[in-house]
Amino acid sequence: MELVVQRLVYGGYGVGEVKGRKFLVRYAAPKELVEVDVLRETRIYTEAVVKKVKIEGEGRRLAPCRYYMQCGGCQLQHIEYGHQLKAKEEILLDAFERIGKIKLGSVSGILASKEEFGYRTRVQFKVKDGQLGFFAWKSKDLVPVDECLLAHPKINQLIPSLKEIVKIVSGLQEIHVLYSPYEDEYLLKLVGKDALSGQKLKDIKEKFLPKEVVNVGSYVLSDGKPVKTSSVGRDFTYFRSGKFLLRVSSDSFFQINYTLYEDYPKLVADGERVKRVLELHCGVGLFSFWLSEKCDVLFGSDANLSAVKDAIYNAKLNQISKTAFAHEKAIHTLRSHMGEVIDLLVLDPPKEGLSKLDKAFISQNKPERIIYKSSEPTTLARDLHTLTTLGYKIESVYLVDELPQTFHISAVVKLRLLEALG
Ligand SMILES: C[S@@+](CC[C@H](N)C(=O)[O-])C[C@H]1O[C@@H](n2cnc3c(N)ncnc32)[C@H](O)[C@@H]1O
Repeated sequence: MELVVQRLVYGGYGVGEVKGRKFLVRYAAPKELVEVDVLRETRIYTEAVVKKVKIEGEGRRLAPCRYYMQCGGCQLQHIEYGHQLKAKEEILLDAFERIGKIKLGSVSGILASKEEFGYRTRVQFKVKDGQLGFFAWKSKDLVPVDECLLAHPKINQLIPSLKEIVKIVSGLQEIHVLYSPYEDEYLLKLVGKDALSGQKLKDIKEKFLPKEVVNVGSYVLSDGKPVKTSSVGRDFTYFRSGKFLLRVSSDSFFQINYTLYEDYPKLVADGERVKRVLELHCGVGLFSFWLSEKCDVLFGSDANLSAVKDAIYNAKLNQISKTAFAHEKAIHTLRSHMGEVIDLLVLDPPKEGLSKLDKAFISQNKPERIIYKSSEPTTLARDLHTLTTLGYKIESVYLVDELPQTFHISAVVKLRLLEALG
């Protein structure tokens, strides 16, 4: 079957139509004629995959990765990077218009990754049937790999050692690697059905891994989340973000794309000075410390104890006295700050977007400014609609491309209360 792909949509698909029926096509480029194989039919659309490109579309190229179209990690490698960015901008603006009823001619700016490939400092390998790799698109079928072009080259260098570990550890399901380019060292998580003893981890570390691997932890999955059972070595490393040095422990979240470690927080913090900042989901403080330069006091919180301990440590390490951090869920932070004067609220909510309490807090406290970081354009668009009805004006929208070659889209939106504008 043949069809014309009109444009790309969120999720990495090209969209087209045949006799009024909507088609979502994997590995398609905008404005091209393709022959497709049908994968599945739903009530609303047909999912298909490109079989043959008849007339090449915008920005089509030969995907550099040899596992492309088997491995499910990348969806856009067949499109030149500039065209990927253009498509992501269009998708973001379309979500704003369709879902948020907000019409913008363009974004205020695009923060592109400085490297198209080799930018990932955190990689989660899957392990199945004694092999290491990644799952195929929307599947649990393992595609074994010898390298990943998105991973930092130093992570690829570790793959032969990881394969040796896979051979000797039974019940292994995942291996998570965190690499610090600043320290040139790695932290490893072995995630499996069985907890490994400290002695076993010590043997693995000494016999199979280079000295740059400073920590190996054993984790078991509980409700889909890895829980640490034991670890050997130093369970933290350091990353640099411009002038700030940040301790990041093995169980703390840290941004994946090392090429944006400085520019991303700088973009978020850019703006005039304010007195009081409240930052939810602050992690180890990557954004907090840049923001602290533009305020009198910043209060940050995060539900992850490890990240909050790192944030507190990092404030001392960088001699920052304007920040305070609490280990608590966002709902508790919002409850305890309800009614307080907050000049700037910084949000980085999960995929589901703003909660009822977030909205109640905003309508009651009416912070003069809000910075909303998001990696889910659809909930972002919905929430921006709510925020505009609460009296906020969008001042700027930046597209941040944290994950080139994939469908993921991040954005930073800065808003201001209209009343405050007078
Ligand atoms: C994507 S990370 C962002 C961290 C930080 N803003 C950064 O970019 O480095 C999201 C953070 O939200 C935290 N988190 C998730 N659910 C939470 C909740 N209900 N309340 C507070 N923090 C939460 C996680 O622990 C994690 O540190």
